[in-house]
Amino acid sequence: MKKFLITANWKLNGSYNFINKNIDLIKKINDYLHFCHISLAPPYVYLNYINQFIKNTSISLTAQNVDIHLKGSFTGETSINMLKDIGVKYIIIGHSERRLYHNENINLIAKKFILIKEHGLIPILCIGETKEQKKYKLTEKICINQINSILKLSNNVNIFENTIIAYEPIWAIGSGKIANIDEVKNIIFFIRKYISSFNKKIIENIYFQYGGSVDYSNIDNFLNKTYINGFLIGKVSLKLKNFIFLVKKIEKNLNSNWS
Ligand code: 13P
Repeated sequence: MKKFLITANWKLNGSYNFINKNIDLIKKINDYLHFCHISLAPPYVYLNYINQFIKNTSISLTAQNVDIHLKGSFTGETSINMLKDIGVKYIIIGHSERRLYHNENINLIAKKFILIKEHGLIPILCIGETKEQKKYKLTEKICINQINSILKLSNNVNIFENTIIAYEPIWAIGSGKIANIDEVKNIIFFIRKYISSFNKKIIENIYFQYGGSVDYSNIDNFLNKTYINGFLIGKVSLKLKNFIFLVKKIEKNLNSNWS
């Protein structure tokens, strides 16, 4: 059985004060983990600080971004090797907030994906459609485009092996509205089938996360679904007590269904 991967994306939130106040709760999460891994994605500047508290736990570190260069005159950027150096395991790329506010296009995201894989870290590739695109039934096309840009650049579908694809409908992020579970299922199945058409073997080694307004009250919709292997969680991950309730609920559900 694959372990569930719950990624806590803090986005542009947090401070030393916030971490110090919550560090006992953060460490406590580990006591509840049997079927899940947790990965924390604080802003870059706090990755190293948090790392000292989570060593020897099932909690790992995720970076929210990375540059496509490994070194040189690229003011303000951070490289994969630097992230590796401080113990990062996963890197979120293609998040809609970076696509939207930082003009990141599919080619740049494809470059990041391939570079992350080449350097032994694990990309969490966010894909998903806008409200408008959903209205015009373009979800499949948009998601496949995002996958195709990576396939085109790498020319090898095996690049997706041991990676994470996070389906995050853009309209669901921070809106309080989750996606319809049948629609989530359909799009994940569609992507699985598409990748399988190139190589059937690798599909079992790809994780699929759902992200977008996941919280305690709606998480039940997504549990018991064998095609979802985890969640990418924003807002709730900043309220550590609520986040723990959520993790406990997921653990309880996985325990009763899979053990
Ligand atoms: P929310 O959980 O706040 O909707 O954010 C989801 C997200 O964007 C995670 O990357």
